[in-house]
Amino acid sequence: MITTYKAAPDIDVLTSSFPIPGFGLVPINAFVLHGPEPVLVDTGAVVERDEFMTVLRSVIDPADLRWIWLTHTDFDHIGTLPQLLDENPEVRIITTFLGVGILSLTAPLPMDRVYLLNPGERIVVGDRTLTAFKPPAFDNPSTTGFHDDKSGALFSSDCFGALLQAVPENAADLSDDELRHGQVFWATVDSPWLHKVDTAAFARDLDGIRAIEPTMILSSHLPAASGSMMDRLLASLEAVPSAPPFVAPDQAALEQMLTEMTAGAGQ
Ligand SMILES: [Fe+2]
Ligand SMILES: [Fe+2]
Repeated sequence: MITTYKAAPDIDVLTSSFPIPGFGLVPINAFVLHGPEPVLVDTGAVVERDEFMTVLRSVIDPADLRWIWLTHTDFDHIGTLPQLLDENPEVRIITTFLGVGILSLTAPLPMDRVYLLNPGERIVVGDRTLTAFKPPAFDNPSTTGFHDDKSGALFSSDCFGALLQAVPENAADLSDDELRHGQVFWATVDSPWLHKVDTAAFARDLDGIRAIEPTMILSSHLPAASGSMMDRLLASLEAVPSAPPFVAPDQAALEQMLTEMTAGAGQ
């Protein structure tokens, strides 16, 4: 089920909790930035595209959108992209050359609807200037997040996501343990290459994020977080390279899960 809440007076969050059997829940967030040139950040999961359109209409008329910031091309981010392009001839997609390339394998973007923005570059959309950055953790090479100068919020894509047992609307409602464990676990699943990084270089990357001093951190996979939580969020990421690597369930584990489910169903 997709619900909404406000991260700021002019920022709506559309959120859904996606279950990972045996592990917990991952929030999947999209964001609407209201203003003279409204922006939708990501477009929901493919499996929830009909519901996403209904819920989106409850916070904005999709015909009013002027921009879609596509943080990357994964299935939990591109759900309603084709429909939004069809319904609204005005809307343009902010993405990268790689984003266009990856989508050309499934649903090619019309090139006159695309705006290519690389990390470090910025775009003015109405009363906001959005500056693209490469998050320190990501699972897809097309990924860009951005900083919005109006709200001060940092949109971090998959970075700072967490696997949770319950999903509040404010990351401050998570215990220290749940936040840290959930973030570290998510990062080992989503960015397993972090186990191979040069930790000194990674620490410098994290310092660069800290220096942005955002008012909020709006991750695709974490409840909205105040900027005051930045040190905690970064400390969790810093622990990832030396954390135990994620080992996925194998066939024996799957068969055991299925047996338990069958036994449970018979009770
Ligand atoms: Fe992703
Ligand atoms: Fe994602």
